[in-house]
Amino acid sequence: MAGPFRWLRRRRSETYEDRFKTSKSARGVSRRRFVTRIGWGSFLLSVGAFFSSVASYILPQLNYEPSSVFSIGRPDDYQIGDMQLIDAQGVFVFRTEEGFQVVSNVCTHLGCAYKPYGPPSEQVGQVHAFCPCHGSYFARDGRVLGGPAPRPVPFYHMQMTPDGRIEVDKAAFNPTEELADASGEGIGHNLYLDPNSGELIEGPYPDGSDCRPCQG
Ligand code: FES
Repeated sequence: MAGPFRWLRRRRSETYEDRFKTSKSARGVSRRRFVTRIGWGSFLLSVGAFFSSVASYILPQLNYEPSSVFSIGRPDDYQIGDMQLIDAQGVFVFRTEEGFQVVSNVCTHLGCAYKPYGPPSEQVGQVHAFCPCHGSYFARDGRVLGGPAPRPVPFYHMQMTPDGRIEVDKAAFNPTEELADASGEGIGHNLYLDPNSGELIEGPYPDGSDCRPCQG
């Protein structure tokens, strides 16, 4: 047979055994290739795992925490007598005639956010804030008036920036340990940031007294 029927002649001349042998060897090759690929894949995976564990051991594990320093705006953003809760930063800002104070909004018991300062109630005879979690009360100067809170709430350090903003640093407290009373309470609570001079100045304590402890 000639011409286009040559392939048919060739196919007819193949025996069943020929074809069987061919497919068997082809299967063997493809199986070998498959096993080889699995082997390489496993090898590469284990090498990758090894290098990633080495890298995690060598490289420092960085924990990015939000900065403790933040701006609460410009002095003109506040009116005298204002008390503003800045929820995102967990602080109350007080604007008085003397200047600014910033006090933590986080209860020193187990860290709940406590309620804004309000007028005296039957339970507490002076301006206070109330923690709804376990019932601690804080005076306007941060002292614990009642409940399980172990410490007064801190007043944070502030300064004016060159562009006229008030900057608060939650990692720094008003530096007035010596002003603490005998129980260690009332630390630095008579310090105000004077927005005109940019200095911390001493003023009255938030409860209206001008000394702590008052002698005689
Ligand atoms: Fe405020 Fe417990 S967290 S009293």
